[in-house]
Amino acid sequence: MAFDKYLYYERSVQSPDVDAAFLDRVYREIRGQEAKVLGEDFCAAFALCCEWAKLNPEKISYGIDLDPEPLEYGRSHYLNKLTPEEQKRVHTLQTDVMNPELPRADIIAPLNFSFFGFKQRTELKRYFQAAYNRLNDQGLLIMDCFGGQACMEPNEHETEYDDFSYYWDQDTFDPLTNEAMFYIHYRPKGQKKIKNVFTYDWRLWSLPELRELLEEIGFKKVHYYWEGTDDEGEGDGNFNKIEKGEICDSWVAYIVGEK
Ligand SMILES: C[S@@+](CC[C@H](N)C(=O)[O-])C[C@H]1O[C@@H](n2cnc3c(N)ncnc32)[C@H](O)[C@@H]1O
Repeated sequence: MAFDKYLYYERSVQSPDVDAAFLDRVYREIRGQEAKVLGEDFCAAFALCCEWAKLNPEKISYGIDLDPEPLEYGRSHYLNKLTPEEQKRVHTLQTDVMNPELPRADIIAPLNFSFFGFKQRTELKRYFQAAYNRLNDQGLLIMDCFGGQACMEPNEHETEYDDFSYYWDQDTFDPLTNEAMFYIHYRPKGQKKIKNVFTYDWRLWSLPELRELLEEIGFKKVHYYWEGTDDEGEGDGNFNKIEKGEICDSWVAYIVGEK
């Protein structure tokens, strides 16, 4: 069977059901009411949009991506698994996230660090401004971000699954620009490693840089959600609002801008 890179990506990187529940919870926590419309920016195969529509019949989602290939994959692998009624509430738009004509939303979520692709401050600011303009009055921009000493030098991590290994490979880091190259490799059991299945050429933005940009644009408040730790000191997947960070070799956090 042909190697299905999106299936491997879904199994090793994504938890769209957990993400949808998290976004729903954050909106209730901050706004005290329910979010209806989600804009999933850089949505690729828009798995999150599909999970959002499954939460309840009020939920509507818009997935935005420039690349027709993952959008088509999402239609034939995720959208088609929804009920006809759910499918009607999921929309995809093959366009730029900067497009000023995009529909308005209660939550805009560029997840899996996709905005790290904007390397210049002016460019990222333009994106945040476009997102701000699209948000409804009570809207929230919810993004994930990662950092820590571990990502300031090359490193590679292998995660083993029953039938394959997943490798997260950071190849470079430039302290002058905070730019870094990342690759995802896979090794199906009993086969050779398939290298560079996904490539990310990113700037690692820090949380204070992001906060300053959001505040400059006019977001009224900025919140951080930090991951809890399990008995072994590893991240436990539970994110809660915090006022003060913790030193961690490597962390993932969410930053939330309140319109
Ligand atoms: C890291 S992947 C997204 C992963 C996905 N959000 C997830 O959670 O797994 C980045 C995606 O952004 C898309 N993309 C990059 N620049 C874009 C832009 N300016 N507007 C819309 N989509 C863009 C790419 O086509 C690619 O599918």
